[in-house]
Amino acid sequence: MSLISQTMESFHTRFKSHVGLRIFQAPGRVNLIGDHTDYNDGFVLPAAIDRQIVVAATARDDSLVNVYARDFDQWDHFDTHNEIERLAANSWGNYIRGIVWSLLEEGFKLRGMDAAVAGDIPIGAGLSSSAAIEVACGYAMLQLSDHGVDRKFLARAAQKAENDFVGMRCGIMDQYISCLGQRNHALLIDCRDLGYRALPMPSGVLIVIVDSGVHRGLVDMAYNQRRSECETAAAHFGVPALRDVSSKAYEELAHQLAPTVRRRSRHVITENERTVSAAKAFEADDLETVGNLMVASHVSLRDDFEVSCPELNLLVEIALGVKGVYGARLTGAGFGGAMVALVRPEAAADLTAAISERYGPATGRQAPAYVCHPSEGVSEIIL
Ligand code: GLA
Repeated sequence: MSLISQTMESFHTRFKSHVGLRIFQAPGRVNLIGDHTDYNDGFVLPAAIDRQIVVAATARDDSLVNVYARDFDQWDHFDTHNEIERLAANSWGNYIRGIVWSLLEEGFKLRGMDAAVAGDIPIGAGLSSSAAIEVACGYAMLQLSDHGVDRKFLARAAQKAENDFVGMRCGIMDQYISCLGQRNHALLIDCRDLGYRALPMPSGVLIVIVDSGVHRGLVDMAYNQRRSECETAAAHFGVPALRDVSSKAYEELAHQLAPTVRRRSRHVITENERTVSAAKAFEADDLETVGNLMVASHVSLRDDFEVSCPELNLLVEIALGVKGVYGARLTGAGFGGAMVALVRPEAAADLTAAISERYGPATGRQAPAYVCHPSEGVSEIIL
């Protein structure tokens, strides 16, 4: 049964009726290059993936929100007319409460909603299932309340939910690509002005995502700390964000920075340059160059930003030993999560074989691989 049918079935079972039922979806994401640049006002190059959160929902006449999460077999209930309280840290309900809170803060009048939610984005794998749930539920709430949806606005509202309700000081990338992703394209996003350029996927290449199986807790704390270090560095350079520091300015002033902050800023400054160069190479079908930039990005995330882990380093090493792999790197926040590789179609099977042969025995973990097809952003599914 498809994810959509399963979600609809969950709705029918839990709410008994399905009059006025509408279906919405929002995708997870993979970032090809440009990590820890978004909250420095820099550039990122993600694609929305063909793994989603699906919401089957009806509007209510009162202000209650009742959500059943099929994947956890759990409920959440709250009232938009009362102050929306936070649940315990890491509760899935906080993402839904957060986006509703954020939309209410923006002054939207929202109807209540009955909803069943389900997804096939692996949780904790760094593929942004949390952004997808915020975006899908925000979109559903707006549509069910007869509001038009401005996708960039929704992305910002979902980021605010994550920053100010959930407490993760993330940038805009995940929510943005979940809102504005395009089928068969990656987007080069300028995280300062929120403009983007859609880059068609070159033919003859696959995006392969490999989940390291390392899903660490306390990522939020380490992430927020990296963000503060970047802010310290920007203040030192006397600019609003590290986006404004050129390599030349960095070379001149870096010696004045404390070693950790120096390495963090070197990552961000060079990663911005790599991302812009990778986008150009991608447009020119120069996948060798894109691959080399991805590898350099991994090294920088590993050594300067210090967000990799032995398992991700091993996955990248295995991938780079396979003929037909253009490049590979950790994708997203790091501290575990997934690797992304750009691969010739005929090499995909060799890559998965090499991983099963070496990764399991070395780490005692499974590393599931997915071939991912860039997909469209949030939408209503009309059956
Ligand atoms: C997480 C955050 C994003 C971004 C990446 C790292 O996915 O949610 O905003 O900062 O990490 O690039």
